[in-house]
Amino acid sequence: MSIKDRIKEMTPNQINKIILDNLEIYSNEWGNSSAIHNKNNDYSFFERFVRTKKRILEIGSGVGFSTLKLIQMGHHVVSIEDNPFCLEKTFEKVSSASYKIEKVVRGSLNVNNTSYSVIYSKVQNELKDNNLLIEGNVIDDNELLEWLRSLEKFDAVVCWLIATHPISEIRYGYQDFQQNIYKTELLTKLLKDSSDYLDLNGYFHIVERTHYPRSEEEKELLINSYLKIVDLSKFEILDCEFRKMVGGDFQGGVRLEITNISGNDPGKIEHAFISLLLRKVITD
Ligand SMILES: C[S@@+](CC[C@H](N)C(=O)[O-])C[C@H]1O[C@@H](n2cnc3c(N)ncnc32)[C@H](O)[C@@H]1O
Repeated sequence: MSIKDRIKEMTPNQINKIILDNLEIYSNEWGNSSAIHNKNNDYSFFERFVRTKKRILEIGSGVGFSTLKLIQMGHHVVSIEDNPFCLEKTFEKVSSASYKIEKVVRGSLNVNNTSYSVIYSKVQNELKDNNLLIEGNVIDDNELLEWLRSLEKFDAVVCWLIATHPISEIRYGYQDFQQNIYKTELLTKLLKDSSDYLDLNGYFHIVERTHYPRSEEEKELLINSYLKIVDLSKFEILDCEFRKMVGGDFQGGVRLEITNISGNDPGKIEHAFISLLLRKVITD
């Protein structure tokens, strides 16, 4: 039975529990996947693209390997995370490495028998030289978006490996939830609204999962599938690179959903990261 049908028969308490359980499972699975990326120095590879940029807005901290890497490398970070379990794990990871980060918890679940939403309180934190980890959602959290607009613009936005927990299916009302559709919608929105928080000449760095191209033609096709969402009158492409992924799909990790344009059996493709570095050339 699908999750949508299951919640129709449940009490609000049971729905709350099932949502929290799913959020926690996702944070554990992502913890396993990202520990492998961290061991393989993938976060060092990602960070190098924004090395020259001081003030960074991170979309999705996950369990904190990416946030910690950015802070360790001397960036000043504001990180937005939607999943409260991921938020807590990030806070613990950064704090136990003896770096300072302020955690802002703002969400409360609002459930009914067909969907759920999260009600967020106002963000009132001041931003000076402090790193901030904020519970929030860059899609539908208007309080957060208003607060972001009130700040001095960032030097870079990083959107590394964005994805969400499968329970999002009932949050956003998808018929048939697919990570690829979710990610494309999220990135499209962020790029469209980027003048609200990204400075002129600022970098927008996207890292996604894909498969390793085996020919120049396949490479072009993969790059173009991402560039479709970029308004090239507002951004210039500075760099695009592929890096083979160690780990990929494994039991206990987050399921990898990638667009396979190779025509090969999914079991035979080599997983990879695609890094796309954009520079903001026009602000609205
Ligand atoms: C796969 S993890 C990647 C985390 C981190 N960037 C990294 O590279 O390790 C993606 C994170 O983005 C968060 N996320 C997804 N959609 C979001 C949204 N709309 N607003 C804020 N965070 C979101 C998820 O909860 C998840 O923790």
